[in-house]
Amino acid sequence: VDETYIMVKPDGVQRGLVGEIISRFEKKGFKLTGLKLFQCPKELAEEHYKDLKAKPFFPGLIDYITSGPVVCMAWEGVGVVASARKLIGSTDPLKAEPGTIRGDLAVQTGRNVVHGSDSPENGKREIGLWFKEGELCQWTPAQAPWLRE
Ligand code: GTP
Ligand code: MG
Repeated sequence: VDETYIMVKPDGVQRGLVGEIISRFEKKGFKLTGLKLFQCPKELAEEHYKDLKAKPFFPGLIDYITSGPVVCMAWEGVGVVASARKLIGSTDPLKAEPGTIRGDLAVQTGRNVVHGSDSPENGKREIGLWFKEGELCQWTPAQAPWLRE
């Protein structure tokens, strides 16, 4: 079963979009296994986005992600990584389809309200980066037999 790291970025928290964003994944039928409000230290933001270190927007990205609390989430389910990316929409919210989180709730790449892992490997890596072991819960949702045959 895949797992993905989803994060409401500081703009999503400041704009009161936390519940709305959690709802999209909850209603879809994925399983929440980790959730916390967290002020991200600079070192963690740099590690999380290390592949983008050479980009001109990198310093601004680190300032953005550390500018206020984020909501960290781990979600589990068959195909959750790719599906979450679809629910989130394109990186540039003006290009994101209506119906997606960014398409509905944001207007600029530098303030695109939510993060989602881009591969199952990165899902595992990022959950390991943002959560300690005791912070994750394994549980069986009561609705499980109504979601999958
Ligand atoms: P994440 O889910 O946050 O990883 O976004 P993504 O996978 O859609 O995009 P990518 O990993 O390429 O970039 C990570 C984040 O860096 C984006 O979500 C933006 O917040 C930011 N970013 C990417 N490209 C630009 C850019 O051209 N300008 C600015 N200001 N920010 C950018
Ligand atoms: Mg990315």
